[in-house]
Amino acid sequence: MKKMLLALGLVVGLSACGGGNEAAPAPEEAAPEEAVPADEAVTEEPAGDFNAEAARATYETSCISCHGGNLEGAMGPKLAGSEHSPEHILGVIQNGQNTMPAIDIPAEEAENVAKWIAAQ
Ligand code: HEC
Repeated sequence: MKKMLLALGLVVGLSACGGGNEAAPAPEEAAPEEAVPADEAVTEEPAGDFNAEAARATYETSCISCHGGNLEGAMGPKLAGSEHSPEHILGVIQNGQNTMPAIDIPAEEAENVAKWIAAQ
């Protein structure tokens, strides 16, 4: 009886080991993606070295009147979901573009809000 249990345990142990070796990497790779909440992943996109709160404040002071409360566009175009790089957006802020005037804000704020918009 003892031998039977031992043999059973060995078989279970072996199969767990054999299967585990191949199955293990997949759950480990999948786990981090599932563990990160969707909206947190968005704020940590590649261009993620910005201060979202400060950017929001800058946006509300300097951009919201023309681009809408949720970057959905108003008199100016929609900014959310645009493919512009932070550099391009910074250029638009500092130099203006067609009917958009240059926005006179500190470079630091302009850079921060540009990165933030690029990530929206
Ligand atoms: C006085 C209104 C006004 C304000 C204030 C304003 N914009 Fe604009 N913005 C516009 C208009 C109008 C355009 C479209 C320009 C064009 O026709 O090319 C534009 C275009 C842009 C574009 C280019 C979009 C594209 O798809 O080409 C970006 C980026 C942008 N604005 C960012 C900002 C940011 C950031 C701020 C605040 C720092 C801001 N704007 C403030 C009116 C404004």
